[in-house]
Amino acid sequence: MGFLEDVIEGLSSEKKHISSKYFYDSEGDALFQAIMKLPEYYLTNSEFEILSNQGSAILEKLELDGRSFDLLEFGAGDGFKTRVLIKSLLENGASFRYIPIDISNDVLDGLKSTMSEEFPEIEVAPRNTSYFDALEELSREKGSRLKLILFLGSSIGNFDIDRASEFLEALQTRINVGDKVLVGFDLRKNPNIVLSAYNDSQGVTKAFNMNLLKRMNRELGADFDISAFEHYPFYDPEEGIAKSYIVSKKKQSVRIGLADQSFPFEAGEVIHTEISKKFSIKEIEKLADKAGLSIQQHFYDCKHYYVNTLFVKK
Ligand code: AVI
Repeated sequence: MGFLEDVIEGLSSEKKHISSKYFYDSEGDALFQAIMKLPEYYLTNSEFEILSNQGSAILEKLELDGRSFDLLEFGAGDGFKTRVLIKSLLENGASFRYIPIDISNDVLDGLKSTMSEEFPEIEVAPRNTSYFDALEELSREKGSRLKLILFLGSSIGNFDIDRASEFLEALQTRINVGDKVLVGFDLRKNPNIVLSAYNDSQGVTKAFNMNLLKRMNRELGADFDISAFEHYPFYDPEEGIAKSYIVSKKKQSVRIGLADQSFPFEAGEVIHTEISKKFSIKEIEKLADKAGLSIQQHFYDCKHYYVNTLFVKK
């Protein structure tokens, strides 16, 4: 389904919802870049610290015995954190190809030029396809090399827990024994710290969430009055889930031009837009179990806010 169909389905439901995957148009990408620089959004610094300080420990756990390998990345974005890992791997004598995988050619073109410029010694071989098609292609290749797949940034937290384990399982079935996966998980912590990360004082996260309404106005001919809605972030510490909503401040009706349809809102009614799951180590172990992956090691930042877990297919 496309954006229009998903919006119609989501706004017609009893509990209104729109998938967070629609945050990321060019405005949303820019706002997310700004979020990653916010003091409250600790996730970026934590993962940056792990990848820059523990590259040699990660490399050791790959058990390469001098073999070269393929470094695959799902959803690299601008590659900011990947660059520190690549730097550290190269400093420690690793030999590898870097294969970013994305369905956006723009993202891949940008990465190819920045990565090739910064690391002329490595081959950058982007794949413009779905994650799983790329894995199948690579695993079928003759003389296929050991793979390390990166899924960073706590992106796995934007899936509900069943989808997260289905995703890891689907990944597991498409890789070879000995291949590794490094996943970034945001850990459970003081709920106030988590909530602040999704309710920053500069209002950037608010703009990121509300951009969904603007995007519907821009692309679907909708007539959302942005000032009649507000951002509502919420953290449930029992479930370990940060949830974002957009709240209608009054009873109103919004028309989606392209659908030729109007959608009524009660005062206080919400649209659910995102979940960001925070994990316990037990939950990560359960995920691994369900997906048929073994945990090789957890790499933590110094505050234990975040973990990069290295999984292996046995
Ligand atoms: C991309 N993803 C991991 C971010 C998160 O933390 O869930 C998106 C985000 N939403 C609000 N702030 C950042």
